[in-house]
Amino acid sequence: MKKLSLMILFVAVTAMSFGQISATLHNFVGDSWNTMSSNKACGPCHTPHNALVSADAPLWSHDATANAGSFTVYSNTGTLNATVGQPSGVSLKCLGCHDGSVNLNAHVGGANTASLIGSVNPAADLGTDLSNDHPISFTYDAALATADGGLFDPTTTASGLGGNINVDLLAGVGNDQMECSSCHDPHGVTGVSDLLRKDNTNSELCLTCHNK
Ligand code: HEC
Ligand code: HEC
Ligand code: HEC
Ligand code: HEC
Repeated sequence: MKKLSLMILFVAVTAMSFGQISATLHNFVGDSWNTMSSNKACGPCHTPHNALVSADAPLWSHDATANAGSFTVYSNTGTLNATVGQPSGVSLKCLGCHDGSVNLNAHVGGANTASLIGSVNPAADLGTDLSNDHPISFTYDAALATADGGLFDPTTTASGLGGNINVDLLAGVGNDQMECSSCHDPHGVTGVSDLLRKDNTNSELCLTCHNK
């Protein structure tokens, strides 16, 4: 009996430590636009063969956004210290579906492109104007934290997810880029809504980086 309950506990803990994509809005299995014959859960984003080679998102299968280089980015000359660039890295992968420019089932190699199929619903469609969205695609390092005065040093501050902010929340080769994936886990985290990396009920996610 004891053994059984321990086993149940083990299974529960094991399941909890993984993102549960099936319980999120990124569960595309059964969606009408998902005309893939197999690999329906991962295939809209990853393919085992003939993938787009990308360090930001491994074995990537979705077509790139048509708007690369022409987004209106966040700018605030008053208080912003970061130098915000055009969306880059993994954010461009997200925008491939979330700016409405590419069909949801448009895939590298074109296997599904002929068959139309729309885009995300309006609430999830950020379009090309990102000036009213949290800034992304810039370097967040110790120097930025010092310049700003109201940010934690990402290289030394724990994220609450096991490592520091750099390791757990930032992206790119140097692990120092703020991207969509700094706040969102595309595979979801059990018990956390909005595909966020961390529960944000009392703004815990925001307060991980902002010293306010
Ligand atoms: C909506 C798009 C999307 C779907 C669907 C998706 N992924 Fe991902 N995946 C990403 C993105 C974006 C990254 C890179 C960013 C990151 O690591 O958070 C990634 C990274 C990964 C990685 C490497 C980093 C890591 O987390 O280990 C693996 C492995 C992976 N995905 C496996 C899968 C599998 C298996 C499935 C299907 C069950 C799946 N993904 C479904 C978008 C997706
Ligand atoms: C293959 C297309 C595709 C890609 C790539 C993709 N998404 Fe999504 N995403 C969707 C769709 C479809 C929905 C469902 C929106 C709807 O209701 O229409 C969604 C929903 C979401 C939601 C809403 C979750 C909720 O519970 O409200 C978030 C947040 C999100 N995506 C973030 C991201 C981020 C961040 C990335 C990149 C790391 C990404 N997505 C990549 C297609 C995609
Ligand atoms: C600073 C953290 C942060 C960053 C960076 C971020 N998001 Fe979000 N996003 C959130 C939070 C928090 C929510 C939950 C809803 C809310 O609080 O407005 C959300 C909600 C969403 C939703 C659901 C919107 C809806 O109303 O259905 C989508 C889609 C989304 N984000 C996509 C993205 C994409 C794509 C990027 C990159 C271009 C991105 N997010 C960057 C924090 C962030
Ligand atoms: C992974 C770290 C991180 C997370 C999580 C995060 N931010 Fe930020 N945020 C930053 C950085 C870095 C900047 C750039 C600050 C600067 O350069 O002045 C920024 C910028 C901002 C700005 C604009 C500042 C300005 O001067 O224009 C606001 C407002 C803001 N964040 C609010 C939020 C809120 C609200 C949340 C939670 C939904 C959040 N942030 C989550 C790192 C983060």
